Formats: sequence, structure tokens, C-alpha cells
Amino acid sequence: MTENRLAIVVLAAGQGTRMKSRLPKVLHPIAGRPLVGHVLTTASHLGAEHVEVVVRHERDRVVEVLSEQYPDAVIVDQDDIPGTGRAVQVAIDALPDDFTGDVLVLSGDVPLLEAGTLQALVDAHRAAAASATVLSALLDDPTGYGRVIRDDSGTVARIVEQKDATADEAAVTEINSGVYVFRAASLRTFLTKLDQNNAQGELYLTDVIGLLRGAQETVAAEIAADTAATFGVNDRVQLAEAGRVLNDRIVRRWQREGVTIVDPSTTWIDDDAKLAPDVTLLPNTYIAGATVVESGAMIGPDTSLLDCEVGEDAVIRRSDATLAVFGAGVTVGPFAYVRPGTVLGAKGKIGTFVETKNSQIGAGSKVPHLSYIGDTTIGERVNLGAGAITANYDDIVKHRTEIGDEVHTGSHNVFVAPVRIGDGAKTGAGAVVRKDVPAGALALSVAPQRNVEGWVEKNRAGTGAAEAAVRASKAANSEAAE
Ligand code: UD1
Ligand code: CA
Repeated sequence: MTENRLAIVVLAAGQGTRMKSRLPKVLHPIAGRPLVGHVLTTASHLGAEHVEVVVRHERDRVVEVLSEQYPDAVIVDQDDIPGTGRAVQVAIDALPDDFTGDVLVLSGDVPLLEAGTLQALVDAHRAAAASATVLSALLDDPTGYGRVIRDDSGTVARIVEQKDATADEAAVTEINSGVYVFRAASLRTFLTKLDQNNAQGELYLTDVIGLLRGAQETVAAEIAADTAATFGVNDRVQLAEAGRVLNDRIVRRWQREGVTIVDPSTTWIDDDAKLAPDVTLLPNTYIAGATVVESGAMIGPDTSLLDCEVGEDAVIRRSDATLAVFGAGVTVGPFAYVRPGTVLGAKGKIGTFVETKNSQIGAGSKVPHLSYIGDTTIGERVNLGAGAITANYDDIVKHRTEIGDEVHTGSHNVFVAPVRIGDGAKTGAGAVVRKDVPAGALALSVAPQRNVEGWVEKNRAGTGAAEAAVRASKAANSEAAE
């Protein structure tokens, strides 16, 4: 009888030297998720009894991310014996002694594999009753990968690392993807037989394959149909390549769901984002985090949305928004900077060169030009004149500005919070509003204008301005004489 129990081991303990990074390699993100997160998300579809992640390098940082985002994964610590063989050995030791199923080994730095490919690998392994099945791939350029060496009958004989390969072996283009299924019992036996006699002085998991063959156990390799999916990330060039492949996949997925993406090559969509049919994304647009965009919305060009909700038929042009909620039919930008906690009601507007933060702007209300609105509540059908500034910070704490419904403010107002403006109130141009304005009142705070007649002629004689003033007063005089 085939044994259908499955354990998954994700290798994430390596240093990632070639990344030259303070951040552990497996935490580098593509499509808004760490590399190891992609592996664990895929793994979660396979119905495994145990999912273990082996950590060591920067283990606390890796564990922090894992326990927050993948709390079901069991953390296993690798000791100071190096190599993928050692990593799997500590993982096997951490499984219950009575676990007798199959062990699927995944690499934390091979992020593009899909659940279907892995399930097919497990199925093939079980159908062949193999002790080990390697996922391999045929690459035009196999540089950097371990090579799958087959014997004269075409059966997998062993895997040789690039650094240990002869010229003939290095010429082999079938590579080891770093993904395998093993019978747990075979792993338990043969991992103890590894040694560190190789170019890197490590216990290589790959050596288990040759040892199994030497003991006449069945070893197979499944060649991946999609070679790009086996891509491993060891340096930043490969990180960007993997990010590009994943983005292409995500873009095509949404195109097939009815999203118009004008320029796929400059449109970046994170894995967690959700787009409704008939959304249009214009060039140079980044839909990041858990952003959700409803039908008919038009985003871009040159726009970034991180963790935003965008309502139906919204239009957001050349703008940057984080943790904001946009109602149906809003218009935003060009050149708006919308910071966390902004909620714009249906048909509202955040216009050109406007910054908002932690503010509710009611349905149909407009902040059209050159404004800063922070810690503010704005009612419905309000229009703020150009250059509205909420002075929300008194150097110690932040205060709120409250603006009622149907308020219209003059240009270039400062609202010195805490302050309230009642429903239907109006303010004059240039007002500095320091006191509450009752509903329906007109607030004026600017001193009445005083004109000093003849000042230019007297103080700027001989300038173009003075001459223009003289001409104007002559013309006015002759008009008066007629
Ligand atoms: C490994 C394989 C190679 C394969 C390639 C596929 C070995 C010896 N080589 O090489 O045949 O073609 O992956 O991408 O297995 N890790 C640990 N503990 C360690 C060392 C590594 O957990 O002591 C983890 C790393 O974090 C990484 C994975 O194992 O996620 C692979 O390690 P890496 O050093 O990148 O191996 P490669 O040289 O790529
Ligand atoms: Ca690797």
C-alpha cells in the first residue's frame, strides 16, 4: 500500500552570501512577499501533515516574519554543521519518530514553483514507488546549479554540484531544482552517511541521491515542463529576474480576469492585490500590498497604491497612496500624496498637489488644489479653496479639524486645530481660522485692505511701474473730463 502521509521541509538556513545583504536572502521580497513566503504559500496547498522551516542565519529575523505570517510552520534550528544535507537531517529529527510518509524538500530561495507541479512530483514519486524523486529542469545555461548525472540506461545516478563537477559533468544541462521527494525512511538512513569531502566542505543533500542508487534503491527525476518555475535566487540579478517572471504571471492572470493592463512591462502588481473586471491600469503603475480595486476604476499612469481600497469607477492619476480608502467615482491627482488613514467618500476629489493624512473627506467633497489636510473630518459636499492648510500640530500633540456639510472655504486658509467649522459656513480668502465658526457664519480674519494712493509714483519714481501708474492716472483724468 502506498503511504499518503506528507511532510514538507523548507530550507531557509543558508547565509545567502551572494546577495551581499543585511537582510537574510529568504526574506527579500518579490511581488510583495518574502521569497520563503512564496514557498510556504505554495506548500500550503498540498495538505501536508507537517510543514517545517529550517533556519539558522539571522534566525530571529526569519522567525519573526514566519511566526507572524505563517504561524502553522514549525521552526527547526540548524546547528553549526553546514549544508543542505544537515538542514534536512535536523528537520527529519524534528518529525515524530512514527512519521513514515514522504518528505517533500523545498528551497526557501526557489519561489516560483506552483502547487500543481509539486503535487505532480509527489504523485509521480508515489506511482514509481521511488525512494527519491528529483525535480529537474533542462536549461540552456545551467551555470550555478547542481547537475543531474544519468547512467547509460538514462536513470539518475547522482547529482554533482557545479563546484565539484568535471568539465564533462558541467556540460550537462539537466539541473537539480533543489526540490525533491524522499521516503522518510530512506532519508533517515542515508543522511547519516553523508560526509563533507567536497569543494564547499558541507553535507550535501544532493549526495543522498548517489548513495540511494549505490544501495539499489529507486531514484527518479521529473523534468519540469516550465523551466522558469525552477529558477533559484542566489544574487540580486536573479532576484529581479524572479520578480519579473512572477509579475508577468500575475499580470496575465488579471488580464484573463478582465483587467486592461496597457503596459505589462511597467505595471507591477503584488501577489495579494485584487482587481475587478474592467479595471484599467495605465503605464508605470504599482498595485502593492493588499490593495483592492473595484470595477471600472482607472489607475495611473505613474501611480503607486499600497494597501488601498479603490471604489468603482474611481480615477487616480499620477499619485501615491498608502492605506487609504477611495469611494466610488472619486477623482484623485494628478500629483496627490495620500497618506494612511485617508478616507475619501463617493464622488469626492483630492486634486493636484494635495497631501492628506488620517482624514475623512465626505461624499461629494473636494480638496482640489495645493492643500495639506491632516487629522481632519470633512462632511459632505464641501469645497475647500486652493491652498487650504490644516495646522494640526502644535509641536507637542496633533489636533483635529472638523468641517461640517456644505462648507465652502476661501482660498489660502489656515485651520488652526483644534477647530470646528459648522454646516454651511463660509470663510474669506486668506483666513486664519483659530476660533470655531458657527453653522452658516462667514468667517473673516484678514484685516480690511488699505490702499495708499500715489505710493509708487512717490517712492519708485522713474521705474516702469511708476510710468505705468502715471499713464493710468492721466487716462482716468481725461476720461473724467469728458
Ligand atoms: C542547491 C543544490 C543544487 C541545486 C540548487 C537549486 C545542494 C548541495 N545544492 O545549491 O544542486 O541546483 O540548490 O537552486 O543542495 N540551506 C540551509 N542550510 C544550509 C545551506 C543551505 O538551509 O546549511 C538552504 C538555503 O537557505 C537555501 C537552500 O538551502 O534556501 C539552498 O542553499 P544554497 O546555498 O542556495 O544552495 P545552491 O548552491 O543554490
Ligand atoms: Ca540556491
